[in-house]
Amino acid sequence: MSGLDQARAAGEVSGEPGSGPTKSPRRLFVKSYGCQMNVYDARKMADILAPEGYAETTVLEEADLIVLNTCHIRERAAEKVFSELGKLRALKAARAEAGRETKIVVAGCVAQAEGEEIFKRQKAVDIIVGPQSYHRLPELLQRAQTSRAVLDTDFPAESKFDHLAAPGLTEIRKRGVSAFVTVQEGCDKFCTFCVVPYTRGAEVSRPVEGIVAEVEMLAAGGVREVSLLGQNVNAYHGETREGAPASLAALIARLAEVPGIARIRYTTSHPGDMDASLIQAHRDQPALMPFLHLPVQSGSDQILAAMNRRHKRSDYIAFVAEIRAARPDIALSSDFIVGFPGETDADFEATLDLIEKVEFANAFSFKYSARPGTPAAELQSQIPEAVKSERLFRLQTLLDQQRRAFNHKMIGHALDVLIEKPGRHQGQIAGKSPYLQPIQMEGSLDRLGDIVRVEIVSSGSNSLFGRLLPDRPAREALR
Ligand code: SAH
Ligand code: SF4
Ligand code: F3S
Repeated sequence: MSGLDQARAAGEVSGEPGSGPTKSPRRLFVKSYGCQMNVYDARKMADILAPEGYAETTVLEEADLIVLNTCHIRERAAEKVFSELGKLRALKAARAEAGRETKIVVAGCVAQAEGEEIFKRQKAVDIIVGPQSYHRLPELLQRAQTSRAVLDTDFPAESKFDHLAAPGLTEIRKRGVSAFVTVQEGCDKFCTFCVVPYTRGAEVSRPVEGIVAEVEMLAAGGVREVSLLGQNVNAYHGETREGAPASLAALIARLAEVPGIARIRYTTSHPGDMDASLIQAHRDQPALMPFLHLPVQSGSDQILAAMNRRHKRSDYIAFVAEIRAARPDIALSSDFIVGFPGETDADFEATLDLIEKVEFANAFSFKYSARPGTPAAELQSQIPEAVKSERLFRLQTLLDQQRRAFNHKMIGHALDVLIEKPGRHQGQIAGKSPYLQPIQMEGSLDRLGDIVRVEIVSSGSNSLFGRLLPDRPAREALR
């Protein structure tokens, strides 16, 4: 981050020539689809545009600049963008009639995958920008003043992280006590179903120093919990200031020293990159939450091989045993795909069996969606939609049972809860358990950002209800 960005972040610069407040304020509406990294990127786009005089709005109709930060992971995700763009075209025309200009930006993974095609399908789009070049948005907006259809889907040599602005402390406070921080991006794994290596590019890790600076800034703004993001976050291999290599475990140890940071999470991991140092960190590092999202996709060796997942079913079960030995109270979550080309009933049963054996606290599951340009899309043995639907239903029924059982087990126990926001009803507050369960309780918002002890009194499929317990002595209540 440059000195100027630092100063802006601290709210010390109020209007150098040509920036922010000297221009008339314009309104920015950003909508994000897909994964948490897209949420992070959307925040960063807003941060970059703030000094350009764009104030964020949640009212679409008043926006002068609309950014759709898109996802290409499944067909439905990509198609959603085009139906949204259809609506935006009408909005843009209506605003133009009222003499107001609207610029529409398509960012994210659809932008990267489809590029110029988007202009052909929807003429109302002004700018297309990929996930690795959005730091150039101010410049692209300038270009869009004079030329139509501005495109930037480069994978530039410079890292966008060296060009991102930080939000001001007031802005950080508005965003809450829990924050995402991208530490690694891109993927070299090339699972045969997946578009990510094409849309996000090759695997890159941010240097430790930049991440520490970002986390320190977040902590100064009241953030207590950071979730470290990467498409393959456990493949993180950054560099320290001295040029020494740093693993994810080393990064976590460094971030645990940042005053104010009480909880650290990381997502998403590939089973093949669960190394010994990370497993040890789950044993030794109290700030590292006992919850691990470890996608397995399938429980069948044939399908895992056809997916190019690079590990067997037994390897996954062994990783889980090792992690549980290091941290017995750890809860696991995963991603599953049903109906991958060639998946037989027996393959599917093997997935159900793996779920029975491992027991997951939470999971995301999807019907296989053939993505253009990926090897699996070319396979002849595509599975009929009805079979996929039936398998997904059975899989989700089992996973839902496991989630309910996991939540139910909490009743009568005390959990440490990070208070994040007002609750659903008057007089209630809401927070998250170490296992990412949303928890509601009676209490005062004075406790925002505190980690409190809560006795769980009831549970639903997705959230828990609890009762505040007296605080522990300060020495023990650090996390
Ligand atoms: N990097 C992570 C996952 C990123 S994508 C990993 O290695 O597991 C998030 C999830 O979307 C994947 O875990 C997978 O379950 C799902 N997914 C990816 N491509 C898909 C496709 N073509 N069809 C259906 N689901 C898909
Ligand atoms: Fe996609 Fe596989 Fe990379 Fe995950 S590891 S992002 S599923 S290619
Ligand atoms: Fe979607 Fe791109 Fe994330 S395809 S899941 S937004 S990396």
